[in-house]
Amino acid sequence: VGFDSLPDQLVSKSVSQGFIFNVLCVGETGIGKSTLMNTLFNTTFEKEESSHHQNIVHLRSRTYDLQESNVDLRLTIVDTVGFGDQVHREESYKPIVDYIDKQFENFLQEELKIRRSLCNYPDTRLHVCLYFLCPTGHSLKPLHLLTMKRLYTKVNIIPIIAKADTISKCDLQKFKIKIMSELLSNGVQIYQFPTDDDALKEINSSMNAHLPFAVVGSSEEVKVETQLVRGRQYPWGVVQVEDESHCDFVKLREMLIRVNMEDLREQTHTRHYELYRHCRLEAMGFRDPGTDSQPFSLQDIYMTKRREFLTEVHHREDAMRQAFITRVKETEAQLKERERELHERFELLKRWHEEEKRHLEEKCGELEEEMSSFSRRKVEADKLQSSVTLPLRRDKEKKTKKQHSQNKQHSQNKYNREKIQYSQNKYNTHRKKL
Ligand code: GTP
Ligand code: MG
Repeated sequence: VGFDSLPDQLVSKSVSQGFIFNVLCVGETGIGKSTLMNTLFNTTFEKEESSHHQNIVHLRSRTYDLQESNVDLRLTIVDTVGFGDQVHREESYKPIVDYIDKQFENFLQEELKIRRSLCNYPDTRLHVCLYFLCPTGHSLKPLHLLTMKRLYTKVNIIPIIAKADTISKCDLQKFKIKIMSELLSNGVQIYQFPTDDDALKEINSSMNAHLPFAVVGSSEEVKVETQLVRGRQYPWGVVQVEDESHCDFVKLREMLIRVNMEDLREQTHTRHYELYRHCRLEAMGFRDPGTDSQPFSLQDIYMTKRREFLTEVHHREDAMRQAFITRVKETEAQLKERERELHERFELLKRWHEEEKRHLEEKCGELEEEMSSFSRRKVEADKLQSSVTLPLRRDKEKKTKKQHSQNKQHSQNKYNREKIQYSQNKYNTHRKKL
């Protein structure tokens, strides 16, 4: 008949539409996120480093259009900038959770539209989260456990040990076991490669046993013998990214891109988005028809929700009014108390002021008394002084006059003597000449 061509029709339709794949990279700054993405897709998406000094984690999304053979892939890489750089990291997961929910919400809003275009909707829901762990060899940090706990119901998590060339083979095995047991004991369900398809059962179940993948990334090609390979050159040798005895990079690429990319996309839609949609619609008041098969009425739901909303608003109003009245009463009581205190203080100051005034008036009276007695004594003293000094002054005036006449006589005598001396000198000079 020809319906065996249906798979081919499906393939050609999908190919003509192109594919979308969105990857979320969660990991501390400088752990090797960009390098690994470059290595995985064998290209250079970006080289720039992120700043270490972010106050909060923020998510940066970049989209690239890739092509392989005749297949178009719209790849979006979402990076967690500043993850793990803050002093208080308890809230680091929040921006990531908000971002994932926002993408689900956008899709839901598109679905709920009357005129929707889901076929060419630019889907931004995150299909996989590559969770980068430091190769410490110790247990998982609380930051990572907390973040993975919040994320695993929203996105497919594939944990990977980054920079696996910096940990020894023996430590790496122990570290892998430790990580898996900690995730299990904390109830974190990471993505498991599906084993329900017979063709993939074997490879996927063996790969599940290798989780978390320990990977090495490199943007450079190194010469090994005659070949150029992607790797990291060290003084003692080369770590080859694509050598399975060196790291699990090939396993990751195989599982993420070549085998399970479609399953990751499907799981995102059927598991994670479905859960989000379920919770959101329930919160909006939607419900499925019950066993009585009563038709589902949007009008009824709207009215019920409206009633619930109005009742809640009413309750809130009442609570706010009550709180306001209590607050006013408290403030009034406080004001009255303040007024009473001020009044008491005023009375105290008034009493103190009166006391001071009386004291000063007394002092003033005493001083006036002292001043009048002083002036009386001064007048008496003046009188006494004038009666003693008058005869003495007359004597002094007489003496002064006498002294003056004596001085005058003395000067006359001196003048006369000098005149005589001069005439004598003149007479002697004249006699010598003669
Ligand atoms: P930000 O975007 O700044 O947060 O950094 P990032 O996580 O994208 O790290 P990036 O890829 O920029 O790598 C940071 C440094 O680690 C670079 O010097 C890389 O060469 C180095 N690096 C990346 N992958 C590996 C690896 O597998 N092993 C080792 N030893 N170094 C690596
Ligand atoms: Mg980077």
